[in-house]
Amino acid sequence: ASSSVRLADPVKLLSSEMNFLRANVTSLLGSKHPALDTIAKYYFQAEGKHVRPMIILLMSQATNGISPRWEEVRAREDEREKARREGRGMGVDEPLEKEEVLQDENPTMVERARDLLKNPLSAFSSASSSPDSASLTILPTQRRLAEITELIHVASLLHDDVIDLAETRRAAPSAPSLFGNKLSILAGDFLLARASLALSRLGSNEVVELVASVLANLVEGEVMQMKGNMPNASSTTSPTATAASPASFSSPSHTNPSIIPASSLSGRGPTPEIFHHYMRKTYLKTASLIAKNARAATVLGGCGIKQGWAEGEKVKDIAYEYGRNLGIAFQLIDDMLDFTATAADLGKPGGGADLKLGLATAPALYAWDEFPELGELIERKFEREGDVERAKHLILRSSGASRTFTLAEQHSQAAINAIRRLPESDARDALEKIARDVLTRKK
Ligand code: FPP
Ligand code: MG
Ligand code: MG
Repeated sequence: ASSSVRLADPVKLLSSEMNFLRANVTSLLGSKHPALDTIAKYYFQAEGKHVRPMIILLMSQATNGISPRWEEVRAREDEREKARREGRGMGVDEPLEKEEVLQDENPTMVERARDLLKNPLSAFSSASSSPDSASLTILPTQRRLAEITELIHVASLLHDDVIDLAETRRAAPSAPSLFGNKLSILAGDFLLARASLALSRLGSNEVVELVASVLANLVEGEVMQMKGNMPNASSTTSPTATAASPASFSSPSHTNPSIIPASSLSGRGPTPEIFHHYMRKTYLKTASLIAKNARAATVLGGCGIKQGWAEGEKVKDIAYEYGRNLGIAFQLIDDMLDFTATAADLGKPGGGADLKLGLATAPALYAWDEFPELGELIERKFEREGDVERAKHLILRSSGASRTFTLAEQHSQAAINAIRRLPESDARDALEKIARDVLTRKK
């Protein structure tokens, strides 16, 4: 297929959905405590790309109806909605907690805190939650899953900006730089708590298991990164196995063999284990969230084990493979942009910011393959005076960025190949467009 093929635009396809998503997320994370309320909502007020929830919504649209159980699933959700409207039960959109007023709050203090933090989102607080008929093919539970995915993503950013000492995010001061590390960590925890509450309402253990394992994966990926590029006995993690559960599925190897240059076997450059370690980390910290939530969307749409439809495994695997490859491509481009884009373009630290954190990502590993002298700088995590500048210089002279791009292209193509196994639809086209656009994004 040529790249001139015109594909459905995901942003247009989902325009009303995304407004509801923003409003719903905002109401999901409201807190009576003004400081917590403000910081929990802080990253949502900036113009995020919302690419993760978009993928969940599009994957839902692209796969709903495939399962022979689809009508049953939809009828069950309709019934649940009806019961909720008639006050006979809880729907996914019920307020998560009954009034939990902080009894001992001094109103003037609250007001002052509110002024101080200038809560910009108060206008949003009583959001409506159901979109119009344009998107009737998405189930309420799938919509909620998209919101949960965004909550988890933002929680991880709050923690990440503490760990990375980041001063900026989404073209504004980072949460830690405005509110401090302690509140940023707590706000991240709060988002995870609200995400868990919402998750419990979806009524699927298979989905709970997928999402819980994503949380473990995010932490595992982050720890793997922190422990460095050199896999050894103490730093090689064995990510959480879910083998004991019927909801588990075999987790493939994340290393595309073509990432490993022939010279890496010569002993001068990075070893194959170092590339494997990098790819595994990349899956855990970025791709797992997209892959497993895309899979969870198809579970909610009738492809879960409980539906008793064996073919459902294939649909779930397509969603997972699409998300895994897209997520890896996404992070590879992120790691490339850290060298090739400016901080102004990115709206967050750039220009080799990863080197300053002691991290050697794909461009650095490929450059090491071409300039063996980079090895010792990477090994000592660019700690000595001048290391970061020297490494940056060598990496920019190398073909590290372009080889990283080539690898990202392969994963983007693999995502497209996976999604093309689904029936033709606008949503499928939009997913394909996302997989292409990931390569040309500038931030
Ligand atoms: C951004 O990466 C960070 C992540 C993709 C995941 C971070 C995960 C944690 C901090 C573990 C805690 C997890 C939870 C669920 C709270 P980056 O630093 O490479 O990207 P950036 O340039 O956007 O900062
Ligand atoms: Mg980080
Ligand atoms: Mg970071």
